[in-house]
Amino acid sequence: MKKRIAVLISGSGSNLQAIIDHIDADKINAEIVLVLSNKADAYGLIRAEQASIPTQVLQHTDYQSRHDFDQAVLKCIEEQQVDLIVLAGFMRILTEQFVSHFTGRMLNIHPSLLPKHKGLNTHQRAIDDKDSEHGLSVHFVTPELDGGPVALQVIVPISETDDASSLQKKVHSHEHSAYPKVIAWFCADRLLCRDNNLLLDGELLPQYGLKEIIQNND
Ligand code: GRF
Repeated sequence: MKKRIAVLISGSGSNLQAIIDHIDADKINAEIVLVLSNKADAYGLIRAEQASIPTQVLQHTDYQSRHDFDQAVLKCIEEQQVDLIVLAGFMRILTEQFVSHFTGRMLNIHPSLLPKHKGLNTHQRAIDDKDSEHGLSVHFVTPELDGGPVALQVIVPISETDDASSLQKKVHSHEHSAYPKVIAWFCADRLLCRDNNLLLDGELLPQYGLKEIIQNND
């Protein structure tokens, strides 16, 4: 049975596009039943409409509290009987109550090698810290910000000429294959989150997930 996915966005939605493309190519056994944005001008909404996916805009500024906004989002998702929530550039911190409701059923992609550089401006912080490598993490969402169990990391070398912008571009390009890969595992019932541990094909994943190492092409 195809899994039913809701994708939450706030912006460009290039990761959403990658997921749509992988579904169209039969690489993910799923259907996106809802794209929800907290920004009315998010370009990802146009991508969804072009793919005939139902969209919903809930602007957080229309709600009195974070709790009220999250309850409205939860209602939209529950109406669609969703199996998996995919956060794809959704720039809102969700309440613990919301996150707990979807334990083991909500994924996020974060542009750093967790547990390093949680939060924003990760590329600049990696440069500032003189890190030799940077990358991305695909993880399940828990109430701790960017703290849930990681399924996959892609490790990108930082070269001497990199700045935050070039590094962002490098990492972003790998997001578009890494995120669909993990979503495909979940949708094929190969990836399970149990008590903060991840199992892939019944095998316990290492802490911070499987690693893909990208060679330096500079
Ligand atoms: C990505 O960089 C992702 O790592 C972060 O938000 C950004 C979303 O980009 N969580 P896009 O909207 O999918 O292009």
